[in-house]
Amino acid sequence: MSGYFSLVFGVIVGTIALQTEAAPVAKADSKRVAEIVRSRCSLCHGPEGESASAVYPRLAAQHPDYIVKQLTDFREGRRKSDTMSDMAKDLKDEEIAGLAEYFSGKKAAVRQPGDVDFAAVGKFIFQRGNPYSGVPACASCHGPNGHGTQRLPRLAGQHRAYIEIQLKEFSKRERTNDNAVMHTVAAKLTELETRAVATFISGLQ
Ligand code: HEC
Ligand code: HEC
Repeated sequence: MSGYFSLVFGVIVGTIALQTEAAPVAKADSKRVAEIVRSRCSLCHGPEGESASAVYPRLAAQHPDYIVKQLTDFREGRRKSDTMSDMAKDLKDEEIAGLAEYFSGKKAAVRQPGDVDFAAVGKFIFQRGNPYSGVPACASCHGPNGHGTQRLPRLAGQHRAYIEIQLKEFSKRERTNDNAVMHTVAAKLTELETRAVATFISGLQ
């Protein structure tokens, strides 16, 4: 397993290095961005990126490059989503860049720890993986506190339900964009491990 992971990981790191050298994209002005947020995004993700429903991802403090990538993939149909492809289909590059800056600049609200027994199992998986079944530690990529990096998403404080949905979609490759790495991770998680690790992550600040 480790050979495969280090290969995949090496490719990711290489890709990240290449992409950070790209020329910066112009951003739509803040009035235009505020207008899009108010008239569209806030309905589900909240004006501060703290979505009210647990099936809508929180966007507050998410990395801007990751947001740009996901919105572009929704727009181009690479990440399939009935809801989001409709939302992103007419967004211009500079509006996407402006929206990413807007939401990434919002502070993550205080999180509540979930069910403590589940969270304890989840903490072990997050920090150490499951050596018996080959699940790697989430922290090895997403960081010790789940804060991610430029391209690796922040997970800390994400809604438990959204995380569970994504892990199940990665497992079945129903999350259609860039699922190679997370497929190998999620396919090894049991139902209990999925719930446990999602519970732990949702309580991280
Ligand atoms: C009707 C509800 C709804 C609206 C309105 C909406 N979204 Fe979403 N958004 C979702 C759902 C649901 C997902 C999860 C993807 C999926 O499973 O379809 C999502 C996912 C995302 C993601 C990916 C987050 C991640 O962690 O991978 C980003 C970024 C995003 N939305 C940004 C926006 C922006 C910007 C707008 C406004 C232009 C917007 N959304 C409007 C429901 C909505
Ligand atoms: C080898 C590196 C690696 C490891 C280990 C890893 N991940 Fe990921 N994860 C990624 C990458 C890369 C993405 C982003 C995929 C993309 O760009 O669309 C991701 C995305 C995710 C997402 C989607 C986030 C969102 O906002 O939609 C979740 C949830 C997730 N990982 C959970 C986990 C959990 C839980 C573990 C541990 C059991 C884990 N990951 C281990 C690399 C990794």
